[in-house]
Amino acid sequence: MKVLLINGSPKANGNTAMALNEMIRIFEAEGVETELVHVGNKDIRGCIACHSCSTKGKCVFNDLVNETAPKLEAADGLVIASPVYYASANATLIAFMDRLFYSTGFDKRMKVGAAVVVARRGGTTATFDELNKYFTIAEMPVASGRYWNNVFGSTPGQAEADAEGLQNMRILARNMVFLMRGIALAKAEYGLPERETITFTNFVR
Ligand SMILES: Cc1cc2nc3c(=O)[nH]c(=O)nc-3n(C[C@H](O)[C@H](O)[C@H](O)COP(=O)(O)O)c2cc1C
Repeated sequence: MKVLLINGSPKANGNTAMALNEMIRIFEAEGVETELVHVGNKDIRGCIACHSCSTKGKCVFNDLVNETAPKLEAADGLVIASPVYYASANATLIAFMDRLFYSTGFDKRMKVGAAVVVARRGGTTATFDELNKYFTIAEMPVASGRYWNNVFGSTPGQAEADAEGLQNMRILARNMVFLMRGIALAKAEYGLPERETITFTNFVR
């Protein structure tokens, strides 16, 4: 069982990393393999809508996105974490996530997703909603904590004082493990849900 964690902060040891490390400790204690991909400090451009991924099966820009794709394919769970920037996720993370999800045609169904947001003060729930949308367009069940997965802190390390936020990270990680295990059992017993041929309709016809 494996979880891929994405850090959208430019800081390797900031508050977002602290929130993720709290989850990683639980995953490791539960015997779940983890891999952390640090995205926020990379030079990653946004999607140019060239659609070459639909024929090539990978992004036209051969960078961390294509490197991460097989890791996502192999993972049972995905954690996307971001600092809040102007009540939204970090722009580099969004460029990365758009291209990662758009360019990969493999089946993401039933991989468990969890969004984590870190802020000084505000914009957390808007960012939480933003990140959860990657999961809910991909038939990925969303793991919940006992709040909206936010951790508060301003300068690096301040999140340590947010005892409730960090406790929620531990609860979230345990819930994720439970869901991943349950889904693995259900897959073995029943298989994945039947797939329909997808119908695309646009509003401009
Ligand atoms: C460009 C920028 C915009 C920010 N906007 C917000 C914001 O809208 N709301 C907020 O509470 N904090 C905001 N912050 C503060 C960060 O979210 C906060 O410092 C967070 O702990 C950073 O996480 P990190 O240490 O993992 O990078 C902003 C910081 C930066 C650099």
